[in-house]
Amino acid sequence: MNSFNDLNAQRLDLQVFLDAKKSLLERNKLGQFATPSSLATDIIQETFKFVEQKNIKLLEPSIGTGSFVLSLLDSLPKDLNIDRIIGVEKDPVIGEASRDFYKNLSINLDYIVDDFTSLAPIQQVNLILANPPYVRHHYIPNKLELGIKVFDEIGIKVSGLAGLYIYFILLSHKWLENEGIACWLIPSEFLDVNYGNKLKEYLLKQVTTLKIHRFDTAQSKFSDALVSSTVIWYKNALPSKDHHINFTFGESISAPTLSKEVSSDVLLNERKWSRFPQNDVRQNVDFPTLKDYFRVSRGIATGENTFFILNKDEILERNLPLEQFRPILPRPKELKSLYITADEQGFPLLEKPLFVLDTNLEIDEIKTAYPSLYDYLQEGIDKEVHKRHLCKKRKAWYFQEQRKSSAFYCSYMGRSKESGKSPFKFLFNESKAIVNNSYLILYPLPNLEKLLCDKPHLAKEIVNKLNSLDSALMMDEGRTYGGGMQKIEPKELGNVNASFINELIAQDL
Ligand SMILES: C[S@@+](CC[C@H](N)C(=O)[O-])C[C@H]1O[C@@H](n2cnc3c(N)ncnc32)[C@H](O)[C@@H]1O
Repeated sequence: MNSFNDLNAQRLDLQVFLDAKKSLLERNKLGQFATPSSLATDIIQETFKFVEQKNIKLLEPSIGTGSFVLSLLDSLPKDLNIDRIIGVEKDPVIGEASRDFYKNLSINLDYIVDDFTSLAPIQQVNLILANPPYVRHHYIPNKLELGIKVFDEIGIKVSGLAGLYIYFILLSHKWLENEGIACWLIPSEFLDVNYGNKLKEYLLKQVTTLKIHRFDTAQSKFSDALVSSTVIWYKNALPSKDHHINFTFGESISAPTLSKEVSSDVLLNERKWSRFPQNDVRQNVDFPTLKDYFRVSRGIATGENTFFILNKDEILERNLPLEQFRPILPRPKELKSLYITADEQGFPLLEKPLFVLDTNLEIDEIKTAYPSLYDYLQEGIDKEVHKRHLCKKRKAWYFQEQRKSSAFYCSYMGRSKESGKSPFKFLFNESKAIVNNSYLILYPLPNLEKLLCDKPHLAKEIVNKLNSLDSALMMDEGRTYGGGMQKIEPKELGNVNASFINELIAQDL
């Protein structure tokens, strides 16, 4: 074993010891997911290709136990020196133990236990290597203050929905010397979501972005955080006019399976950067999309499915009034068929039909008219369902969102089991059942509604076509998460190419 392996083994022991001190929720709140050493080494090897300075001044703003620092020291080319390393860690438990760990090593490391976002640059650096905390916006208590700080420093207004890593990147701008290189391992979501736009603008306009590598999500890089990861490299220099960014994809950074140079001009007008390198630049052909035929909305969010959704036996056993419930479909994976037929009352013909409480009665009216339902609601209060986030916000905690049922539903997430198959399933619903938010609802717009009135058989054909759409067409719009999980949001579904509807109509004329 050489000394790096020894040291790294000791560091990993320390990491395991520190991780065990916290619950997953506590670690989530501080984005504490260790950077795997092999990944840190791959990232550093790639980074050396961009580093021009000989004397490295490194900033690691979320250093943790320091996998980047050790890997950097281990793989440092002979002609490079380390001038100084500044490492920042907010959590005193990790920070103090790690500072002690490094104290006896002869490394020029200033290990600072503090919140990076609150610091002013101590010294400018020529290299930043970081895997910043993946903390979602609702766990950032001071995001308003951080937003103002970013705006004051670089004139960018960050969205309130941005995760902490976006603030880290933008607030590190002042730490980086001209021509300095920064490399960040971050969640891939910024490539596609609206709150990533400001970061993308920064990457296009204020620095020269060199490379964006997206890992194959089937291979999550973190054993304990389900995220899909991307590494970005940029130089602190204004980009040239015809600048191109190298997009790569695959398991390995140095030997990616796909690679494509994409021009900044194209990227300025492309909202979904994750289409690269797999796809070509979007052609500006005018094709119809699903939003030309449907309004897409989410299924209802009950606030507590286990309380509000009951099966028929449970309703009968408790003597609850069925007329105060409405039928609701089970989750997509529990359905045996994509065609939901109905009985004469419009109830779905399913083995175990489900119903969601759907009353507009005040509690006193319920007490008088339906004592059994009143008792059931009291049970809900005992179980604190009325304190659930969504329930609290309603006029009466047990009221449900009012959404009409539709003939068209789509499962909102899934995994592709066969290549070329879309992970999202479309249902043709003949019943009056609604769906919960594991589905999206497609409501036909008046143009399509009129057509379906005249030619009802087209509805089923549209669903069949939707189910046989090439996965690439769907995934062009949806997003992929760690472990290969794919999701599609209402707006994204609306953007799916719907030329096939035009073709169906034309064939039917
Ligand atoms: C994704 S981990 C990176 C781990 C690190 N690369 C390593 O090798 O251990 C993010 C680290 O940032 C720390 N952190 C969270 N918020 C911070 C903040 N505001 N300032 C500095 N560090 C922070 C977490 O405690 C965690 O150790």
